[in-house]
Amino acid sequence: MKRYISIFALSLICGIAVADEGMWLPSLISQRIGDMQAKGFELTAEDIYSINQASLKDAVVLFGRGCTGELISSEGLLLTNHHCGYDQIQKHSSVEHDYLRDGFWAMNRSEELPNPGLTVSFLDRMEDVTEKVLEGYDESMTRQQRDSIVRANKAALIAEAIAPGNGLRASVESMYYGNKYYMFVYRVYSDVRLVGAPPSSIGKFGGDTDNWMWPRHTGDFSIFRIYADKDNNPAPYSEDNVPYTPKRYFHIAAGGIEEGDFTFVYGFPGRTSEYIMSDAVRYISELSNPHKIALRTMRLDIQRRYMDADQAVRIQYSAKNANVANAWKKWQGEMRGINRLGTVARKQAYEARFNEWAAGTEYEGVVPALDSLYDLLEPYMFALDYYYEAPNTVEIVKFAMNMLALAEQGSDSALTAAAEVFYKDYYLPIDKECFIAVMKAFDENLPEGFRPEYFDSTLAVYGSVEAWADGLFAHSAFTDKEFISALGSEGIAALYDDPAAEMGRELKAWVNTQIYPEAIRLTSELGLLYHDYMRGQMEFEPEKAFYPDANLTLRVAYGHIKGYTPADGVYYEPFSTIDGIMEKDNPDIFDYNIPQKFRDVVATGDYGRWGEGGSVPVCFIATNHTSGGNSGSPVIDGKGRLIGVNFDRVWEGTMSDIEFDPDFCRNISLDIRYVLFVIDKIGGAGHLIEEMTIETE
Ligand code: ARG
Ligand code: ASP
Repeated sequence: MKRYISIFALSLICGIAVADEGMWLPSLISQRIGDMQAKGFELTAEDIYSINQASLKDAVVLFGRGCTGELISSEGLLLTNHHCGYDQIQKHSSVEHDYLRDGFWAMNRSEELPNPGLTVSFLDRMEDVTEKVLEGYDESMTRQQRDSIVRANKAALIAEAIAPGNGLRASVESMYYGNKYYMFVYRVYSDVRLVGAPPSSIGKFGGDTDNWMWPRHTGDFSIFRIYADKDNNPAPYSEDNVPYTPKRYFHIAAGGIEEGDFTFVYGFPGRTSEYIMSDAVRYISELSNPHKIALRTMRLDIQRRYMDADQAVRIQYSAKNANVANAWKKWQGEMRGINRLGTVARKQAYEARFNEWAAGTEYEGVVPALDSLYDLLEPYMFALDYYYEAPNTVEIVKFAMNMLALAEQGSDSALTAAAEVFYKDYYLPIDKECFIAVMKAFDENLPEGFRPEYFDSTLAVYGSVEAWADGLFAHSAFTDKEFISALGSEGIAALYDDPAAEMGRELKAWVNTQIYPEAIRLTSELGLLYHDYMRGQMEFEPEKAFYPDANLTLRVAYGHIKGYTPADGVYYEPFSTIDGIMEKDNPDIFDYNIPQKFRDVVATGDYGRWGEGGSVPVCFIATNHTSGGNSGSPVIDGKGRLIGVNFDRVWEGTMSDIEFDPDFCRNISLDIRYVLFVIDKIGGAGHLIEEMTIETE
């Protein structure tokens, strides 16, 4: 007991975070390296991030605009999630070769498939530019003056950073609510080819049923290759391009992992809000999430009913349904997590203590001021939530607006393409029923003073939401595929007064004129106060190690493999195996219908190098602090080798974007041995494994 007390006391003195909470900036990782090493990391800060030598950061990329990927061979081979490569796999799929259903494996370089529009970004360097961004600013200036100075300085810094060209992109990001600014310079490669993907019945095994949950058995990975010009520089797709030679790639540790092992996730978390006020958390858990969940439940139920009744509709709506379901399920876990933790009450108590401490300091009055701003902001946020989750989800309305916008640009080919994409996956009865459900909720829940005048007057004309739906779907020309597909820009532009176009335009005008201006004004006032509140929190708790909220910049999270107790009397082991896949396997349940080949391989028991104890490990959980955007991130062992691929979090821990609870927050990763097993035994693509460096010690 005595030992624990002294360790705890020590951790307070040194500012060591007791739990594995935190997503740290790689360039400042030397501040954490002692703690990392104490927990099992065997390398140095320079191994993680260096601008003088190749380091692990050179093997990690921002994949597309919201995922992470890692280099796993000296020839540009890249690993990410199946759900991150989903769009590319889908785009290459057709009835003749359905790669989503059957999987895809390039058997040689010439079979690798290019993906226009897809990029991967390597972080060249990051730099604290706070002083440069604030150059010319002094405290006597107004907010507008500060904003314009910051904007001009940022633009100049970016222009200078990307001047050498060669695929460079730069951005300046605010950290700690504008108390720090960092510049990130990336090298962006745009010739990225699809190399391999398992069938969805492996890559999406468990589907939305298992999404955000543990135990998990999803083979959520796909493989790409980066191509470069002859000098290894970024270049648009060309047959003459050659595989990119990375400065660094991950060696793979296939020797097995154990509970308690050190793990480190290196990737691009998208957005967290760990330092927000209790008012903001209360809004999320008591108003925003419940309403958004209710709206999505209605849509999901309607979609599901039609999908169950018709195979073609099931295919049309499967990606849409998964999209709607993903956040819907996360919000429910988040809300429960916040309630269980009592985050609102805890934050209120913290704010009271802060406020007392702040008396007589420059932070006096900050908390009450934030508080009253939130009161003013709340109805605007609520209106925005309803706009985005109700009228803005009506497919025909969004389509009409999109087509009119394209018509204005005058591109007939863009119109034809957009119409084709839309009608391929459109089923009017779903859209119409969803319209009725969400617009009724819109009517019932939007308070006086925050309702669009257009909505009330149109509803009065029709008499009911149902009658409005009848009118809209019967009279909108946009429901007529043949008619719309044959129109060019002029013809589409003439549909300006179509009821779907009108509804979209009017409600958008309402948000833009009645809601956004005030919401933006209040939010920017909040932003200024948060600037102070954040700095105040750091002064109030000088012993605490603060990490900046996620903002899609490269971060390090570290922890260890660990099970958890989701509920009284239940303990979850940290590992899953293919035995669990066989237990779930059911040809009659879409989410659990594994490929026959998989059953055959399991029947032979020939797992090659990838087996352990007569089975194959599939997924594991650990205490790393991750968020959306960390999908595809490398999970690294104490020696800097790849042991897994991150893809999700457990349901009971999804509030980690707001408050991290070491008892419940776990990230979910694929065990790298399952990835190799699928490539080797199911995909028959052993030549890819030949390229990798695999260590078994
Ligand atoms: N929950 C994971 C994430 O937030 C995976 C989502 C994709 N899978 C799905 N079944 N919708 O991205
Ligand atoms: N599934 C998420 C992603 O796509 C990861 C997470 O939210 O934990 O980034």
